[in-house]
Amino acid sequence: MSIQNHGSPRAGLAHPNPASQSIPAYSEVMEDHRAIVDALSPCAERAVLCVASAGDNVFHLQRAGAARVVAVDIDPAQIALSRWKWAAMLDLDQGDLLRLAGIAPATEAQRWGLLAALSPPELEHWPALSQRVAERGLLGCGKLAEFLEPLRAGLTATVGRATLEALILNGDPATRRAAWDALESPATVDFLAAALNETTISDAFIPAAAWPRMAEPRFHLHYLRVLRHLTLELDPTSNVFLQRLWLGGGEGGAIPAYLEREFRADLARRPDTTEWLCADLLDALEAQDPGSIDRFNLSNVLDWCEDDHHDAIWAAVARAARPGASCFLRSFLVARPPPAAVLSHWKLDGPRSERAAHDDRVGYFSRYELWRRS
Ligand SMILES: C[S@@+](CC[C@H](N)C(=O)[O-])C[C@H]1O[C@@H](n2cnc3c(N)ncnc32)[C@H](O)[C@@H]1O
Repeated sequence: MSIQNHGSPRAGLAHPNPASQSIPAYSEVMEDHRAIVDALSPCAERAVLCVASAGDNVFHLQRAGAARVVAVDIDPAQIALSRWKWAAMLDLDQGDLLRLAGIAPATEAQRWGLLAALSPPELEHWPALSQRVAERGLLGCGKLAEFLEPLRAGLTATVGRATLEALILNGDPATRRAAWDALESPATVDFLAAALNETTISDAFIPAAAWPRMAEPRFHLHYLRVLRHLTLELDPTSNVFLQRLWLGGGEGGAIPAYLEREFRADLARRPDTTEWLCADLLDALEAQDPGSIDRFNLSNVLDWCEDDHHDAIWAAVARAARPGASCFLRSFLVARPPPAAVLSHWKLDGPRSERAAHDDRVGYFSRYELWRRS
């Protein structure tokens, strides 16, 4: 899902406002890292440019061994939060990390104490963000987390917690099938229709002006199909995204892979090759040396771009790309191919794109595309 803090006009290289009261839209990235790591296979020789959001996919790319990761976001609050998460992952013990994340119980005062001891970059510049982290944890401080709470409560009230748990946590396919039959009712469809429609999605997942290009305008029915796929056709019992979305991401919530002990230990052993960059994606791309980037993860930023911005970003990707480069993106909108000059050198990898769409553990985007430079 996409809850933006801005309409994404080209904003140039941005710097944190020292008195910023803003909080980030995302405190966890609801975009499955596995699709990105599988599609981009970032190995030791590769430089990757990735939209930062709340940092999760950047952590995975760094841990997968990328030689250089350029993490870009137009929103300085996203960069600040990502760097705080990074600092917490490297410096806190597991118990304190989960307390600061908001997954293990902690009081506001305890989280303030952890933040003060951790003293992550620019803590003093982000009073509103620090307050939210103390109240809700690193993973609960974003606007999307707040948006999801009534949605989760509403679905739980409609179908019952036991049905959701059976559907998502039960290892027996027949039990999940029965839970699905209980969930798939007119009441659920009505609830999803009221929660996920043009009014709620516009300017949240996509800019309102882009609504006519929405690939799945009856988004609630699309999401119902996605939920069925994730719970009956894939394995939901290991799907942390689904568990956090529908069973709750706060205290007692499932632990994202990047907060697991082993992941962090691995990350700590690697040199830190991530550069955090607060900039419009276009400016960040244009700032790279020509032919210097092997892999790109554009998230669904192009959904937020007018045609000229979209085409300029693609041209800048083509310019920054090394021979053999690839570029992964997700989208809620109908297909909008790269401009002709780019298309003559870049081809869509159909089978790998379809595989990413099929395997994705969040699944609600309409398009998953892996492009390769020939
Ligand atoms: C497009 S949103 C999608 C969010 C994602 N689905 C998630 O769950 O995190 C990801 C990030 O892109 C950033 N973003 C949007 N437009 C951008 C632009 N033109 N340049 C750089 N970053 C941008 C937003 O600030 C946000 O943090």
